Amino acid sequence: MTAVGIDAIEIWTGNLKLDLPGTFAPQKGEDPEKYTKGLGLNASSFPDSYEDIVTMGANAAHRLMERKGLEPDDIGRIDVATESSFDNSKPVSTYVAGCLEQVYDGDFHHANKGERKFACIAGTQSLDDAYNWIRAGRNRGRSALVIATDTALYARGDAGEATQGAGAVAMLISEDPDLVELSAEQGYGSADETDFLKPNQQFPSVDGKRSVQVYLARMREAVEDYESVAGDVHLDDFAYAPFHTPFPGMVRKAALLAYRHVIRNTSVEEELADEIGRQPRAEAFDTDEAYRDALRDYMDSLKETDRYREWYAEAIDPTLSISREVGNWYTGSVHIARASALKEALEDGRDMTDERLLVGSYGSGAQAEIHAETVQDGWEKEIEALNVDEQLAERYDMDWEDYEEIHDAHNHEMDVDVEEFTTPSEEFVFDGWGRMGERK
Ligand code: CAA
Repeated sequence: MTAVGIDAIEIWTGNLKLDLPGTFAPQKGEDPEKYTKGLGLNASSFPDSYEDIVTMGANAAHRLMERKGLEPDDIGRIDVATESSFDNSKPVSTYVAGCLEQVYDGDFHHANKGERKFACIAGTQSLDDAYNWIRAGRNRGRSALVIATDTALYARGDAGEATQGAGAVAMLISEDPDLVELSAEQGYGSADETDFLKPNQQFPSVDGKRSVQVYLARMREAVEDYESVAGDVHLDDFAYAPFHTPFPGMVRKAALLAYRHVIRNTSVEEELADEIGRQPRAEAFDTDEAYRDALRDYMDSLKETDRYREWYAEAIDPTLSISREVGNWYTGSVHIARASALKEALEDGRDMTDERLLVGSYGSGAQAEIHAETVQDGWEKEIEALNVDEQLAERYDMDWEDYEEIHDAHNHEMDVDVEEFTTPSEEFVFDGWGRMGERK
């Protein structure tokens, strides 16, 4: 069967930067290490006054199309995944197509366009839709463009404010992909949850502590469901495990949980239980408080073991390098985790061809999904082409007054007009609500 997967990827960051330890922490009266060590973040990307989900998505897509030498006729489907949409009727993909049509001779009249919503997991769901469309033979030789784009902003003073971010990831899905092949097997954990909501409001209502527990619960179910179709997960089978990263500290928790699950049926856990002097029994977790405490102690001990630390350093830590500098990109977040890992592999001179990734996506509301990916032999060229380091270095570093001003300007309830902090160059810029971006 021909491989189907991600052929190419491009990343577009918001052009502003908020330094968390240097600018945010002093204003909040917090220890900078709460952000760098606790949440695992150094900075957030933030949109300038001329940027929004359309411009960032169109800029990422345009860069991707130029690099791959594509014309509109090569694309049969455009799906935008976002939880920052401003239009309840017209999908954001139509605005993005409108931008792209300004710079290409052809148009996208033939393309099926849509918008996917299920919080942060929608980017992965759009990949699934594209995969299924190609597998069903409905693509007429064309590829799909999937764009995950968000301005992940929280109300000022909300605990989530430290985890903000803004950026877009554009992905080309096709047969014989250059980057990764997607597995047919998937596992899900899905339940009706109310810890993170945006019912017709710009900033989310979040129960942050509960959202962390819901993420972990759904992710555990997804791993179990994945194993029921793909067989037991063994740590050595996967070079990296990119997870949805609202902030790296969240992934630290998810990784420990996944690790514990994966070693449960092996002699490794027995060895560790002997070493620690306690045998965990998960089934008692819900009913027995003493047992819950014992299990927490066990997990704390587990994360101090050499074996866990080595696995975390090799399979998880490299997935977090971009996220640490940009914060949460909601739908794009797991896709920058994959890109981070492959970028680190490239920098380490590691040969990744045929290596496998275990990808864990998550969306509040809530649903987790696990699938596997196999790295293809064109990966090096694809990752070399990313200019994410340059983009991050070029961001304008805001002081606190700048931040307050631009946050207010992005708050649709406030009538604030703010000057641009950066000068747009060769990119689409925001041109008024409901209108497509203009290229400057
Ligand atoms: N040095 C080192 N570490 C420190 C520290 C210091 N001086 N001070 C605090 N810390 C640690 C804390 O111990 C904590 O770590 P652990 O969780 O491992 O114990 C970490 O820093 C964060 O500190 P707090 O828990 O006190 O932080 P908070 O309550 O202010 O905010 C949060 C945390 C509730 C997660 C908040 O960031 C939030 O609401 N975020 C938005 C919601 C979110 O991202 N949820 C994630 C799951 S939902 C999801 O994934 C979907 C999505 O994208 C939104």
